[in-house]
Amino acid sequence: MTKNILVLPGDGIGPEIVAEAVKVLDKLKADGLDISLDEGLVGGAAYDAKGHPLPKETLAQARRADAILLGAVGGPRYESLERPLRPEQGLLTLRAELQLFANLRPAILYPQLAEASTLKPEVVAGLDIMIVRELTGGIYFGQPRGVRELENGEKEGFNTLVYRESEIERIGRLAFEIARKRDRRVCSVDKANVLEVTELWRQTMIRVANDYPDVALSHMYVDNAAMQLVRAPKQFDVMVTTNMFGDILSDAAAMLTGSIGMLPSASLDAHAKGLYEPIHGSAPDITGQGVANPLATILSVAMMLRYSFGEAVAAERVEAAVGSVLDQGLRTPDIAANGQPTVGTAEMGNAVVAALNA
Ligand code: IPM
Ligand code: MG
Repeated sequence: MTKNILVLPGDGIGPEIVAEAVKVLDKLKADGLDISLDEGLVGGAAYDAKGHPLPKETLAQARRADAILLGAVGGPRYESLERPLRPEQGLLTLRAELQLFANLRPAILYPQLAEASTLKPEVVAGLDIMIVRELTGGIYFGQPRGVRELENGEKEGFNTLVYRESEIERIGRLAFEIARKRDRRVCSVDKANVLEVTELWRQTMIRVANDYPDVALSHMYVDNAAMQLVRAPKQFDVMVTTNMFGDILSDAAAMLTGSIGMLPSASLDAHAKGLYEPIHGSAPDITGQGVANPLATILSVAMMLRYSFGEAVAAERVEAAVGSVLDQGLRTPDIAANGQPTVGTAEMGNAVVAALNA
């Protein structure tokens, strides 16, 4: 059956990088992959056109789609809007409405880019971590939240970090399942020494682990995990953590690989429907210059093929094409070592399509 992909370019460099990923999808389609593409508005682009970061039409399109490819949302122009109208809210509501509770963020170092990392090559060479971030709970969504005025007139801001056992259990199970296809090690990251909710997180992970005797479970406090990620990142296989810890640790992990411009992500529901997006943001500083790295978005297409469509061979073909353009020495500015010549966004995308032909 034809798989319907909703393409949501979003803001900033989003449209530029998504255009290159669409070239890859078009090429796969021409080669026989049974897909159809639909396009929609999200984030600031949707606010500009429709007055809302997640218009009703977009949500309906997203519900109909088998998978979603998203560029990026946000930008300085929208920062003064009231919170419910901000671009980020479009993305957060999409995650919540579609129950995309599992965020997979692989941090893989392409050997060709070892020099581009700010860490020593021997620290990062061969790096292959999978961060599994809970995405629809925790402090991002907990109630109550807001800013209130105290009796003395001072303002007080508050958010709630809350997790149910069932939420912890389902992300835990997924992390163990993923570990089974890798090195069979899960490190659960929490702050159980201070926060009750993450003490429950730890106990729940220990209980879930009973069903996966073939996978080794360890625990780490989040502050230590941040340090270990930059000290000795290769000790990790799968990391599983809360929504906000995962947000922070995945940016840190991304940088180990040379550039956040290389890393894709998948956000999955319980039935492998997914939203795929690069980990990086809308990059207003380079928007419109044609220099953004489209590889994270193209690699997000590979994740879509693998996780939502069960097309592992096609996924590997896309990943191999990315490896091939890196072998050819093509570098956007973010992944260029000192003095290396660079290519633009479209040139990089075209090279990946050409490599798919080879
Ligand atoms: C991410 C982003 C989002 C998040 C923002 C844009 C809402 O930082 O996907 O990591 O915090 O989840
Ligand atoms: Mg983030």
